Amino acid sequence: MTFNPFRMFFPKKMLGIDIGTSSIKIVEISKWGGGKTLENYGEIKSASLLKEPFRTYERGSYVLSNYFASRAIKAILEEAKIKTRAAIFSIPDFSTFFVSFELPPMAESEISDAVRFNAPQYIPLSISETTLDWRLISGTPGNNRSNLKVLVVAVANQVVQEYQRVAQMAGLELYALEAEALAVARSLVKDNKKIICLIDIGVQSTTVNIVNKGILEKSFSFDFAGNQLTYAISSALDKGYNEAEEIKCKKGLLSKEKNISDILYLLIDPLLVQIKKIISEFSQTEGKEIEDVYLTGGTANLPGLKEYFKEALKKNIEVPNCFSDFLYSPILTESLKDMSPRYSVAVGVAMGGLG
Ligand SMILES: Nc1ncnc2c1ncn2[C@@H]1O[C@H](COP(=O)(O)OP(=O)(O)OP(=O)(O)O)[C@@H](O)[C@H]1O
Ligand SMILES: [Mg+2]
Repeated sequence: MTFNPFRMFFPKKMLGIDIGTSSIKIVEISKWGGGKTLENYGEIKSASLLKEPFRTYERGSYVLSNYFASRAIKAILEEAKIKTRAAIFSIPDFSTFFVSFELPPMAESEISDAVRFNAPQYIPLSISETTLDWRLISGTPGNNRSNLKVLVVAVANQVVQEYQRVAQMAGLELYALEAEALAVARSLVKDNKKIICLIDIGVQSTTVNIVNKGILEKSFSFDFAGNQLTYAISSALDKGYNEAEEIKCKKGLLSKEKNISDILYLLIDPLLVQIKKIISEFSQTEGKEIEDVYLTGGTANLPGLKEYFKEALKKNIEVPNCFSDFLYSPILTESLKDMSPRYSVAVGVAMGGLG
């Protein structure tokens, strides 16, 4: 979501910054000729700075801790010795509304006004206080027989201003803000021409996205996420949060203790019901089948999750690596593979800034 459309030149290096619930991730990437280099990366967990997460939210309300977030960003940049100041931030799914609708045939130059005119029917925000962005999903602008289908992304101006403030306090030059679903579609789907269901499971929320030939067509957000799994283990075993987190990450669904895996299945199954519904509705309304399911977000690494999704959805399941197209030092190969699900948003927004 560019709010500086007149900037003509892309910089050579770009930072992608994802202020997640439990941690802030930053990547620095550069582009040359036909390739990309991962220059640097860094992460800081909110638990190391403060008891509260960097951002807290219930649906509809949103609080970003400007002071702590900007301080944490500065600390990562310093620690990783990152000099680049051009940055793009991701906006969380909780503060983003996605809707797709059809427009009659029109020229490309008329679409923005038409989106603004039609959006109030679909978006539960006051349009005068909302920043709108759109992408063409199908149709040909300028062809008077072609209806156009657009995906519209709406974010409250207040949220945009909060990110502008964080960037300013951290001494960064903010190039753009982008919804995280668009970012993961870019970093993980690349030029894959299939229809993919891309699921991002973080700490506090899960997004289920449909990406058709690289274009995000639909995005849904759910409350289920990794912290619920940790809380459930913690209360069932009467263990502290950190210990429960360790059990979850090391053993997960493959735990030999049946009560642990049973608790996890119980929480994951309702998400699977929702995913099945989204997949079958897509195939009914569009007449096309979803071919692959991609998992990302830290919880994608839950032991046994990939296999369980495969069994439940009867689809090919992958945990794609957002760093796979980048040049980086070979000693990083294993750790980047492990980090990839947590960094896919930051990598995606940074890639968008390098044209
Ligand atoms: N190996 C693992 N097994 C299970 N869960 C894991 C593993 N590694 C990380 N996680 C979980 O992933 C979550 C962190 O993921 P991520 O960094 O994507 O979240 P976030 O971006 O901070 O959250 P959100 O997107 O909800 O704001 C935590 O809940 C953590 O417990
Ligand atoms: Mg996240």
